[in-house]
Amino acid sequence: MNAHATEEITSAVHAAVQAAVWAPSVHNTQPWSFVVDGEEIALRADSDRGLRTGDIMGRERLVSCGAALMNIRLVLRGLGHEARVRVLPDPDRPALLATVRLGESAEADEHTRTLCARIEHRRTHRAGFTETPVPDQLVDELVQQAAAEGARLTPVRSEAAVRALAALTEAAQEVQSQDRLFTLEVLRWARPPGSTRAEGVPAEAYPREPRRTRPHFAQRDYAHGHSWGGESDRSAATSTGLVAVLTTLSDSREDWITAGQALQRILLHADAHGVRAAFHTQPLEMFHLREFMRQELLSGEYPQMIMRLGFTPDEGRSVRRPIAEVLEERGTT
Ligand SMILES: Cc1cc2nc3c(=O)[nH]c(=O)nc-3n(C[C@H](O)[C@H](O)[C@H](O)COP(=O)(O)O)c2cc1C
Repeated sequence: MNAHATEEITSAVHAAVQAAVWAPSVHNTQPWSFVVDGEEIALRADSDRGLRTGDIMGRERLVSCGAALMNIRLVLRGLGHEARVRVLPDPDRPALLATVRLGESAEADEHTRTLCARIEHRRTHRAGFTETPVPDQLVDELVQQAAAEGARLTPVRSEAAVRALAALTEAAQEVQSQDRLFTLEVLRWARPPGSTRAEGVPAEAYPREPRRTRPHFAQRDYAHGHSWGGESDRSAATSTGLVAVLTTLSDSREDWITAGQALQRILLHADAHGVRAAFHTQPLEMFHLREFMRQELLSGEYPQMIMRLGFTPDEGRSVRRPIAEVLEERGTT
């Protein structure tokens, strides 16, 4: 391989890892690391960053890593390379979630380029949305984005079902806030104002005095009694937005990685149309509530994410660890 081609591959692989870290992750734990070896990127789960109370099985950790994997795939594709992905390639190395190898050159399509351009822009929202509804055509497209990855996005249109999901979220939040271990875990990942930590949920990422949506979807209590939070709920918006649930047919580790990839594709496509997402995963962290949702509301499919989608003028803030902290380089091409 000539020097120019080698250089191009090295820079594509690095661009992909740099984009990977902008994936969403539960409490911004960023539970991943990457090993680059020539043309191959290995994505590993970092169990030291797992949630021992809220995510005993590591489901949310793998959903987060799946979202990072989607960014890698998109960026390689956007730079004109096929991405050859093997998910869970080695049963003897469970932390190795995927390997991605550069394949043939392949012209990037317009949609891939559009999604790539949103990777660093996308942010989680933690308040109400404006009254502008998410257009039906966009909802259909988001459903297709999920299906293309082997997951299902179900927009919840019935008001009764939306109220039921809101109630389940409220119940889970109430129970978790009474539980010392849950509370300590959320606090561990709450980033106080002025903190320089490059992880956790920054105080600027949620409003100090959030308005209640109708129906109300309980937010995580990252402030825990402090008057932390962004200046105000600028938009003063109180619409719940469109509630949607991402599901898979089964519930294996592979399904969780699939769900993460589908999630990220949905979020980037939505962001490209000015639509942001808020997440409410508290009920999914409680076995009986998740099972109740699955059987009573989701025809037996496994819920992987509960989200609200909508428009907001708020910009959102987040932080990430420097690449050097998550990337190990081995060998050369
Ligand atoms: C599996 C998963 C679960 C999440 N659950 C919640 C949640 O319950 N509440 C919330 O406000 N954000 C939730 N988030 C969003 C993360 O807090 C967010 O992605 C992280 O702080 C990084 O910020 P960013 O998405 O703005 O880049 C979740 C994200 C993932 C991937």
